Amino acid sequence: MATGIPNINGDKNKKHNSNNFCLQYDGKASIEEILRTQQAQLRCVISVDKQPRNRLIFGENLRVISSLLNENTVAGKVKLIYIDPPYATGSSFESRKRNHAYHDLMEGAEYLEFLRQRLILLRELLSEEGSIYIHLDENMAFPVKIIMDEVFGYKNFRNWITRKKCNPKNYTRKRYGNVTDYILFYTKADNYVWNQPFELWTDATAKKEYQYVEEGTGRLYKKVPIHAPGVRKGATGQPWRGMLPPNGKHWQYTPETLDKMDARGEIYWSPTGNPRRKIYFDKSQGISVQDIWLDFKDAHNQNIKITGYPTEKNPDMIKRIILASSNKGDLVLDAFAGSGTTAAVAEELGRQWIAIDNSALAIATIIQRLVKGTEAMGDFVNGNGSTKYEQKCLIDIDRILRTGLDLYIEETSELELIPDSVIADWDSKLNFQASFL
Ligand SMILES: C[S@@+](CC[C@H](N)C(=O)[O-])C[C@H]1O[C@@H](n2cnc3c(N)ncnc32)[C@H](O)[C@@H]1O
Repeated sequence: MATGIPNINGDKNKKHNSNNFCLQYDGKASIEEILRTQQAQLRCVISVDKQPRNRLIFGENLRVISSLLNENTVAGKVKLIYIDPPYATGSSFESRKRNHAYHDLMEGAEYLEFLRQRLILLRELLSEEGSIYIHLDENMAFPVKIIMDEVFGYKNFRNWITRKKCNPKNYTRKRYGNVTDYILFYTKADNYVWNQPFELWTDATAKKEYQYVEEGTGRLYKKVPIHAPGVRKGATGQPWRGMLPPNGKHWQYTPETLDKMDARGEIYWSPTGNPRRKIYFDKSQGISVQDIWLDFKDAHNQNIKITGYPTEKNPDMIKRIILASSNKGDLVLDAFAGSGTTAAVAEELGRQWIAIDNSALAIATIIQRLVKGTEAMGDFVNGNGSTKYEQKCLIDIDRILRTGLDLYIEETSELELIPDSVIADWDSKLNFQASFL
């Protein structure tokens, strides 16, 4: 693999990191106009009276985010945003039980502007140490990357993560099978929360990577170069033990540090006198996670527990994101909450959370999930006339909600009306057991 040589002597004003282009399309509103977006009128309809209090909001997210910007406990305080918006698929989505969930019918400029307006407001909610992840597929990921660069700044782009979303399918179309989607990771600034995730070594990968056994100690190690590309004029460009770094390269450490490392036995000398650095297996926390995620497919068989809401994401994938980009007690927000995967995982990991969705089915699903968790679901599990017996116990061990909750409803004629009887039912389910836990 070729490694480029960083330009440290170039024109300092000409930053490689700047983006001097943007996406043009009809109907692109000014940032000032977007920041003046009308605010949602929110009515709190259910409270589970415990601390900390999380929030579930049934409303149009643009107006809801705009109203959250008025709250000084939220604006500029959110540490992590994960959103999984509609993907411009041109489809409408139903749950496994064939109930309408949401439409995904916007396309082109209309779709991009819909997302851009929300991203501009979401940026204002983010803390200076905050991160945002946006999940998309190949339909719109490319233009949205350019919008993200405009809104968050190219220099705050961290990763384009490729996720394997499903098992290979038998495609009949004349093209390669599509098994991936994408997560774009940006931060608000440079000093962001980051807990480096690691994958555990397997015996096989550890043996392949750490092939050498240190004499005397028996420690496994691998050998890596002690030089890096680029010429340096300072100490790292000077001879060490009478040896200059190879042509066009410099030492990774000063000769003084290399001496100390050698004294500790951390330098391997080849029979021809070439020094290499030893990296020990017992010092490794695992394999640092890379930007291809193969282990987080969405529910693909009937043994996996789900809610039945369409496009529900793998909770372990959300767990990786929440653990890497937030700490306990931090505020996490999902403005396209769907089945509430972000909310449920945030709750389990001791983060505070706000979840917003404008689908009545999504809100009902999230409440059910908080009260009962997820369940194995599928034609085989629920159909074929087979009877499913449920053993009820007083304290539901699958309950996810452990902390407090406020459910808000946006007062607007645009949204489906949720009958008072349904709200009363949710209230009793959410509050039941709350005092036991
Ligand atoms: C792809 S789904 C999210 C799935 C979610 N990540 C999960 O794991 O279940 C997108 C969600 O965005 C919601 N949505 C779309 N437009 C919205 C809007 N303008 N305001 C609030 N929610 C919206 C839809 O109702 C839908 O539930």
